Amino acid sequence: MYICICNGITEQDIIEASKTSSNSLEIMKVLGVASDCGRCLQVAIDKCLEVTSSIPEAAKTPPRRVKQS
Ligand code: FES
Repeated sequence: MYICICNGITEQDIIEASKTSSNSLEIMKVLGVASDCGRCLQVAIDKCLEVTSSIPEAAKTPPRRVKQS
């Protein structure tokens, strides 16, 4: 489903972007959501918040190596 018609941004684009960032504003800025008419802004914010809150933070970052002493 299209979220932003002006820029051809779909729900799937936002889901994919959320895999590399948990920051909704960053996701929207990188994708260019709401950069034209702005009518998609609220739907885009809702979708970003939905997908960023549903993916655990640990799944977005590589595992840390723990230095053993
Ligand atoms: S629909 Fe997204 S900027 Fe117009």
